[in-house]
This record gives sequence, C-alpha cells and structure tokens, in this order.
Amino acid sequence: MNIPSRSITFLSFLLSSFSFSFVLSRNLSYLKQGSSLFVDDWHTSLVSPSGSFSCGFYPVGINAFAFSIWFSFDKTIAWTANRDRPVNGKGSWVSLRHGGGLVLFDFDGTMIWSTQIISTNKINRAQLLDSGNLVITDLSGIMLWKSFDNPTDTLLPYQGITKDNKLVSSAAKGVISSGYYQLYFDSNNILQLIYDSPNLTSIYWPDPFNKWWVNNRTAYNNSRIGVFDDLGYFMGSDNLRFKSSDYGAHVMRRLTLDYDGNLRLYSLNESAKTWSVSWLALSQPCQVHGICGQYGLCVYKPELQCICPLGFDVLDPNDWRKGCKPTFNITCHSAGQVRFVELAHTDFWGFDFNYTRLLSFHTCKKICLRDCSCQAFGYKKGSGECYPKITLINGRYSQNTMQTIYWKVPRSFKAPKISIYETNPHNCSAISEVHFMNYSALELRKKNVGKQTWIYLYSFACSVFVVEALFIFVGWWFIWRERKQEIRENHYETVSCSFRRFTYKELERATNRFKNELGRGGSGIVYKGTMEEERLIAVKKLHGVSQGGEEFFAELNIIGRINHMNLVRIRGFCSEGAHRLLVYDFVEKGSLDNVLFDSSSKHLLRWRRRCKIAVGVAKGLAYLHHECLEWVIHCDVKPENILLDDEFEPKITDFGLVKLLNRNSCGQELSRIHGTRGYIAPEWASNLPITGKADVYSYGVVLLEILRGMRISDWVLQDGEEEDQVEMILGRWVSSIKERLKKSGQGSPCAWVEELIDPSLNGDFNSAEASMMVKVALSCVEEERSRRPNMADVVRMLQSYDAE
Ligand SMILES: *[C@@H]1O[C@H](CO)[C@@H](O)[C@H](O)[C@H]1NC(C)=O
Ligand SMILES: *[C@@H]1O[C@H](CO)[C@@H](O)[C@H](O)[C@H]1NC(C)=O
Ligand SMILES: *[C@@H]1O[C@H](CO)[C@@H](O)[C@H](O)[C@H]1NC(C)=O
Repeated sequence: MNIPSRSITFLSFLLSSFSFSFVLSRNLSYLKQGSSLFVDDWHTSLVSPSGSFSCGFYPVGINAFAFSIWFSFDKTIAWTANRDRPVNGKGSWVSLRHGGGLVLFDFDGTMIWSTQIISTNKINRAQLLDSGNLVITDLSGIMLWKSFDNPTDTLLPYQGITKDNKLVSSAAKGVISSGYYQLYFDSNNILQLIYDSPNLTSIYWPDPFNKWWVNNRTAYNNSRIGVFDDLGYFMGSDNLRFKSSDYGAHVMRRLTLDYDGNLRLYSLNESAKTWSVSWLALSQPCQVHGICGQYGLCVYKPELQCICPLGFDVLDPNDWRKGCKPTFNITCHSAGQVRFVELAHTDFWGFDFNYTRLLSFHTCKKICLRDCSCQAFGYKKGSGECYPKITLINGRYSQNTMQTIYWKVPRSFKAPKISIYETNPHNCSAISEVHFMNYSALELRKKNVGKQTWIYLYSFACSVFVVEALFIFVGWWFIWRERKQEIRENHYETVSCSFRRFTYKELERATNRFKNELGRGGSGIVYKGTMEEERLIAVKKLHGVSQGGEEFFAELNIIGRINHMNLVRIRGFCSEGAHRLLVYDFVEKGSLDNVLFDSSSKHLLRWRRRCKIAVGVAKGLAYLHHECLEWVIHCDVKPENILLDDEFEPKITDFGLVKLLNRNSCGQELSRIHGTRGYIAPEWASNLPITGKADVYSYGVVLLEILRGMRISDWVLQDGEEEDQVEMILGRWVSSIKERLKKSGQGSPCAWVEELIDPSLNGDFNSAEASMMVKVALSCVEEERSRRPNMADVVRMLQSYDAE
C-alpha cells in the first residue's frame, strides 16, 4: 500500500513540475514561445528588470481574474487585457503561441482575448519592460506587439494616446470593467473627454461651449498624438500642454481617466508609497457630464453629491449614475393641467430645442407649455436667455449659476415644504464617494408669474435667501455637533457649508466702506469688518485678478475646501464685475512680523510660544502640501503671512492666492508678490519648476528668524552688503554654520547654538531643543532642494523632541 501511494505522489510531482517546468521562480523575466502562465499559480508573474512593474493574473473578484500589468509596489493596475470578461480562477491560462501571440483562455478552453499578431516572423518571447510596456518580439528582437498600443484607462510616460486608441474609464471605484467616459482624438484632431452611454453622448472637456481656438487647442495638426515625458510634461498635437505640479525626474507617474470621468495625473510619493494628484482636467467635478444620470443634480459642497429633485426618486440607490425617475406622469394633452416648479442656481447642460435671448419670462414659459416634448426650461433673468429642454441631464447645482430651471409638473403635484440636507463632513481628498440625498425644489408662486415680475423677483430673492439660510444652518449644526462630540484633536472642522458668496454691497457695509485698513501686500489690501453677530472678519480686496468669474470660482472651490487649524479660515468671496474679494476670519494678534521683530512686543514670544508657532506653521504647510491636493504650494511663506490668534496659535494666510491670481508658474511677478527679500528659494532664480520644496526653504528662513528674533536680512548682512544679495549671503552663512556643526561633531553642539538664539530670551530656553530646531532650519535652507526635507518630515522632526 505504501509504495504505490508514494509513487503516485511522485508521479504527480513529476507531472506538475513538467507542466510548470518554465516556472523556476515566482518572478519570471520573460515568457518563451510555447510556454504559459496559469491562473492556479497566479503568484507567478512576469516582472520588469527593475521590479517596478508586474504582469500576470490579477484577482478582480471572487474566483475572477484579469490578465493585467500593475505597479509592483501597490498593485495599482496600469493595463488589462480582458477588463470586461474576467476568467475563472481555476483552470484558466495564457499562452505565447505562434498563431496569435499571447492568447488568454478561460477554464473551459474558450479563447477570451488574444494579441492577434499576424506576422510571418517567428515569435520568440514576451517580456515586460521597465516602462511598464509588455512587448512580444521575434527572434531578431523586432517588436510585433506592445501593450502600450492598447491602453485601458491609464497612460504611462511615453505611452501615447493616438488616433488609433483611446482611454476608457472603469465603471466604478475599485472595479476594472469599462465605464462610459472616454478620452480620445475626435475627427477635428482635438483630444477630448466624452460621456458615451447607451442613451447619451456628451462632450464635456475641453469646455464644449467654446470653439477650439478659445480653448487654446488647434484642429490643424492631424498627427493626433498626445504623450507625457518622464518629467511630467504632457504635449498633444492639438496644442494641449500641461505640467505636473511636481515637474521633475525620478517620479513615477500615471495619467488615468478615473471612474468619475475626470482625467488625473498621479505622482508616486516614494516615501509614503501613495499616489497624489499632480494635475487634473476639471477642477469642478460637476462639470463632468452624465455623472448623476438623467434628472439627477450634481452638487459640490465640498464633495460631489448626486441628488434627485423633488418629485423624483432615485432609480438605483446603489448606483447614483443611473439617475432619477419622476413620480408623476405628464401626458401631451395635459397642457392646462401643468405648472412649473422652480430650481434656482441650477443648470442642465445641453438638450435645448431652442435658444433665444431677450425673451420675457412669460414668453419663455409659453414656449415650453406649448411643446409637449418640453420637460423644463432654463431662464436667466437680466439677459432674458431662454433654454427650453427636451431632456434633463448633466444637471448641476451651484451658487454661482445664475440660471433657474422651471420644471413641468402636473397641477396636482404637491411639493412638501421640508428640505432634507445631508451633508458630508469636509474632506480634502480629490475623489470622494457620492452620496444620495433628497432635495426640495422651491415652489413657484402659482398665479400670474411673469405678468408681475416683482413677484418673480421676490420669490427668486426668497429662494436665494432660504437656500443660503439653509447652508448657514447646516454649517452651524455641524459646528455645534462637532463641539459637542469634542472631536477637536485632529483639528479639522467640518463647516465647509458655511463657505459662501457675498455681494459687494454686503462687504461694503461690513467694512464700513473699506475704512479700516489692516495691511497691504502684493496681492491686495486687507480691511477689517464686522458681520452679523459681531463676528470680526478680514476682507481682502484682490488686485490683478485676470480670471473671469467661472475660473475664479473654480479655484475658490479648492481654496474653500481647505480647512486646518493652522490656516486662516476662508469664509467666502465676492465676485462682481471687476471686484474680487475674499473674506477671512479675523485673527486677533495680527502678523508674526509685528510681534517678533518689534522690541516692545517681543517679550510676549517666550520660548514655548516660539516652539508652538514653529510647529503650527509647519503643520499648516504640511497640510497644504500633503493632505490637500499636492499642488497647493504657498509660494509666499514669510512672517507677514503668518497670523497669530489670541492664544498665539499661528494661522497661515494667503495660501492658494498664486492659483487665484492665475500666476500658474508661481514665479511670475515674483517681485510683486514678495515684499521682502530673503525668503525666496534659489530655484526661483534658476528658472526650475517650483515645488513644495520652495515653501520648505522659506519655512527654514522663517524658523531661523523665530529662533533669532530678527529679520534674516538684518542678521546675515554685513555693512555695505546689498539687500538683493541676501539669498547668496545666506547660502554662505549656512555653509559656515554647517562647518561649525561638523567640527563640533559628536560633542555638545549646544554651546555655540546658544549664540544664535534671540538674546532677548535671556537664556530662558531648552538648549537641546533649540539645537534640534537649528538643525531642522539648516536642512530646510539647503541650496539643493532634493536635500531639503518635506514639510511632513519637518513636522515629525519638530515633534520628535516632545515625544522623547
Ligand atoms: C503636429 O504635432 C506633432 C506632435 O506634437 C509635431 O511633432 C508636429 O510638428 C506638428 N505638426 C505641425 C504641422 O504643427
Ligand atoms: C404613469 O402612467 C403609466 C401608464 O399610463 C402607469 O403604468 C404608471 O403607473 C403611471 N405612473 C404614475 C406615477 O402615475
Ligand atoms: C476622505 O476621503 C477619502 C476617500 O474617499 C478617504 O479615504 C479618507 O479617509 C477621507 N478622509 C476623511 C478625513 O474623512
């Protein structure tokens, strides 16, 4: 009995080692002609020479696998052969064969996918390159097929999008099957994003309202190729150009058309092993078409949410993209039986069967009443623009939209009065889950609408007021709830809903006609004001804003979401005509420079307070750099932009202004932004792209000033040296300090550090802590930016002392 069973085991061992004879290790460097990969052994995969990419069977569900290429470090998929037809987890395999190249078979032998190589050349091997490209070559090394020619939803550096391929988004988060969003070159040679579902196609990027030349594209180049390089610079033959915010070499990047229809460039943060967004096509997610389905409304405050208007039910609570369905019937013969329900600040993009300007509200309404295919009409008072609509899709609600939608409903339709808002806590990350909530339309007064426009105006004003009041109420409710639960330790408040739009009149009143000036800088003048309930505000009048209202609003959408205890809270904005104003919380003690450099108030900044300020500023910047979208670089860190509240907690102000003032490269008009020399990182002068490391440098200078209690220019400049050489002299000074640090070596460096610390502290400080802080500051002001720590590291280093 013993011998046969053993021989069977031996036989099966032989058999399996025969069939897997090519599997010498779990990582293969290539697949020879005639060999296969088996799903049952899915831990075996092809790996690129450097190990960055892997290719093989990837589990995509219970017992379902796809043949994919992924980033080895986190298993993010870069390419998939069979995204819509996964294979069984038992018995499926992929072979490299003469006929067809790579061929994928399901468990029952059905051919699922193949590279379909038609070539007389003899296939030799399939290999995964370091670029993430899977290639099949013949004996002489000629490429017969490459995965780069057949992208799914992701492009890698030097993988082009061409006239022959396109990117197709996945259907949902964490799903690989194809969705409805596509990136492709159209017949006009323009690279664009389209929502292409079975019952609707709609282009949404670049702005479909504009002609291509307005969108800065060209239709004249029919080579139709778009590609980004390993520095993060994308170039399309249609003149589309963009740069990743962390432009530079040695960063892994991917350009992905996400499931939510937005095109994003991601950069890999090597130390944190996470992807961060370094560019995106649409800053307002609601601009993506089809995102909330038919009749659905997209709301963004501050996360994307889909809502169904009153009288509509969600079709599928598990999938908001399916939209909503009406709970009423409207037949063609019911012309006298209908009325309109009003939705202010709403748009449903496209599907107008008519467009006329300068119509009265009444005429516009009549057009829609007469036509039984008209489901609603959009009307802009003032310009009298009238948009009767055949269908309602691409809906979005935004305070900034000056259009009102009037919705046809049966006369018998009853609108409940109560609105239910369900807002999600503030979340700064780029992609967020979409939630469903109810939405109550405001009822239009039933009689004589249009005849007496004042009624219309009145109800319009009312609706604005009610919506606004609701926002404020929801905001306060959140504050109240937060306070109650005392979830204060992570310093994030969830009051984003109170971010709002102000009218110029309101702000004029609040600031008493801009009487009380608090300060002025490169970007504008700041005035003190008082809102209702005696709340103090600071109003900044921006000058030099070149953006139109929409763009300004888009940028504000990002800035308005930013919320951290070490950043000045932005309460709202005003954009009217040429006026662009920002409304901030008023911060008690004014800016750091007033306290730190003034001998009469300096005594207030004892050692503990200085440490608290140093850590707080670092935390605020770390939040901007790492927790928000990567590209919130401050560009102008200096004591003037650090405010202190009555507890001496620092709050950084003016963040995001560089984006708002449309100085994209952040370096333009530098002299205008920077009042004081000395905080500017050396890369400004060398024309290198600016990254968060420029802020790190400025922070280092500020930290030195906090320690010394003196302006860096007053400190390092000798007599006769020019102010505009301060950066260079600072560089020399830093090197000499570092020399001393090296010389003192392992011994106690504290003695000479004490000389650097503000003498007005009279030696009342912790010298070990001080020397740690000096070291941090010196590493921040390294000339070579790659040697500077990032802000998260700085926070860690500063806090490590407390921990010990
Ligand atoms: C068309 O675009 C390609 C790729 O960007 C470029 O190399 C070529 O010079 C362009 N042709 C013309 C006529 O501009
Ligand atoms: C609408 O009409 C259809 C057919 O006439 C009917 O089946 C359906 O129940 C009606 N829906 C409502 C909400 O009344
Ligand atoms: C924000 O959203 C992301 C993704 O939806 C989630 O992973 C993260 O935990 C959220 N953060 C907070 C503070 O809720």
